[in-house]
Amino acid sequence: MKHTIATILRQKAEGNKIVMLTAYDYSTAKIMDEAGVEIILVGDSLGNTILGYPDTLSVTMEDMIHHSAAVARGLKDALLVTDMPFMSYQSSVYDAVVNAGRLVKEGRAQTVKLEGGQTYCPHIKAITEAQIPVMAHLGLTPQSVNAFGGYKVQGKDEKGGLTLIDDALAVEAAGAFALVLECVPADLATLVTDLLSIPVIGIGAGAGTDGQVLVYQDMLAAYGGTSPKFAKVFADTGTLMKEGFRDYFSETKAGLFPGEEHSFGIDPEIMKTLEQYAASKAG
Ligand code: KIV
Repeated sequence: MKHTIATILRQKAEGNKIVMLTAYDYSTAKIMDEAGVEIILVGDSLGNTILGYPDTLSVTMEDMIHHSAAVARGLKDALLVTDMPFMSYQSSVYDAVVNAGRLVKEGRAQTVKLEGGQTYCPHIKAITEAQIPVMAHLGLTPQSVNAFGGYKVQGKDEKGGLTLIDDALAVEAAGAFALVLECVPADLATLVTDLLSIPVIGIGAGAGTDGQVLVYQDMLAAYGGTSPKFAKVFADTGTLMKEGFRDYFSETKAGLFPGEEHSFGIDPEIMKTLEQYAASKAG
């Protein structure tokens, strides 16, 4: 089934949980699509997971376009959301619309995601009016890492909780078709989910949201380091990959790889001619 804004909205109405994952390349996106994942996010988390930066702040529009276009080529049914990178929309409403347009035209995004609440409602409204659906993102918004002073759970005190509720209502009113809530207390996430009519998709936000999203390297232990508390490891592919690389190393060193089954044959008559020719060249 092809997933669209309409089918995703219907899932909330029907109480059918929405399943979303990040992807950054063609082949991984294709596997996720075939596994039934409903929304694929080309997250600016690619700054960490793919490019090796300590945060998402250095990710460029060119990075996002490059990876979004690759992921788009791998999708048949999933809805594609592409992140607007740091400073591609914060600078002005005009920049926001132009850069959202580039993600659609050049990166083949179907929708875009941006971080922030009431401050960015004019941006959400303008992009939506340009016929590009917007997914909002509140709670721990990684592009604000320096303002937050680190990666911390958000909305734990009364002031933070009230701001989160106001921001969620504001992005919905501005036209966002869905909201990602990252690292907020589970009860607060459930409260926001029940308050909004648009789907709320959680990451580190408990089980009461309309759906879940994870960075795929976290759920596959494929990130070289440790997975965050909220990310269950569904398959330890990191260990599996390391074992595979080690086996390749030792079999190659020992001359066991490639075997005959991995090699191509040649007609013995042609080979004899080639050997005679090589011998004449060797003098
Ligand atoms: O960039 C990203 O991967 C994200 C998810 C954590 C939601 O924004």
